[in-house]
Amino acid sequence: MTHGRLQDKVALITGGTSGIGAATVRLFVQEGAQVAFTGRRQAKGEALAQELGSNVHYLYTDHTQLADCERCVAEAVARYGRIDILFNNAGIVTKGTAETTSLHTWQETLDLNVTAVWQMSRLVLPHFRAQGGGVIINNASDWGLVGGQDALAYCVSKGAVVQMTRSMALDHARENIRINAVCPGDTFVERWVEKGYFEDSDPVTIKQGLAETGAALPMGRVGQAEEVAKAVLFLACDDSSFITGALLPVDGGNTAA
Ligand SMILES: NC(=O)c1ccc[n+]([C@@H]2O[C@H](COP(=O)([O-])OP(=O)(O)OC[C@H]3O[C@@H](n4cnc5c(N)ncnc54)[C@H](OP(=O)(O)O)[C@@H]3O)[C@@H](O)[C@H]2O)c1
Repeated sequence: MTHGRLQDKVALITGGTSGIGAATVRLFVQEGAQVAFTGRRQAKGEALAQELGSNVHYLYTDHTQLADCERCVAEAVARYGRIDILFNNAGIVTKGTAETTSLHTWQETLDLNVTAVWQMSRLVLPHFRAQGGGVIINNASDWGLVGGQDALAYCVSKGAVVQMTRSMALDHARENIRINAVCPGDTFVERWVEKGYFEDSDPVTIKQGLAETGAALPMGRVGQAEEVAKAVLFLACDDSSFITGALLPVDGGNTAA
């Protein structure tokens, strides 16, 4: 039997009900981890947990609510006895310039994309310390590394995640706690269809839209959620044992120029 890269590890993945989070849940389970994952869409969460079997557990969580964050960490620890890996993935994309972003949009973006990342990290740290170490991977964005148009609150939030990653990495480096971030570029997820990024949801229209978006990128295509999940796996497992405070672009070269 092959030994997975996350054998005997316990991972908590936020926002695992779809997209990059769901792809990471699948990959981590394949690599031998026991996985607890969160999200608000209960039907999707329960269906994924059921499909993947007894090593996977869905925890309903709204990460904008501190009590929910506290409950989900407590439940994961109660179930598995430890947490070795936290993937702070849950996030929303919002649009708007400095003039068109409402205070509501600004606050909801920062509440989830920044405050929840801080709170979830704060909540796992005592467990990591008691266990003698742990790993946090944050899902930032290429728009945390460079500016983006018509997405002010989102870019500010992802820039904050980048700095949270660096600062926390320094604060906890001597405690065997590694903290890194992936910075995905355009990565196709089903939410793009739900949000109306394409004229309609016909597969041909989607294929054309993806080809147009991809043509503007260095590698000539957009990314897949599974490709980001593989980078998260690298940062989660011992292959990256001397890496902390790193920001790993998974963007087909978009931020190389
Ligand atoms: N796709 C891209 O091109 C791209 C590029 C750069 C960075 N990213 C980052 O990748 C991460 C995942 O996004 P995705 O592209 O995979 O899109 P997605 O499918 O929309 O995933 C977002 C996840 O976050 C969860 N979520 C949203 N609000 C939540 C809340 N209040 N509480 C708990 N969970 C919540 C969603 O679950 P529920 O709806 O069930 O709550 C979902 O599982 C985000 O942080 C995003 O900024 C994506």
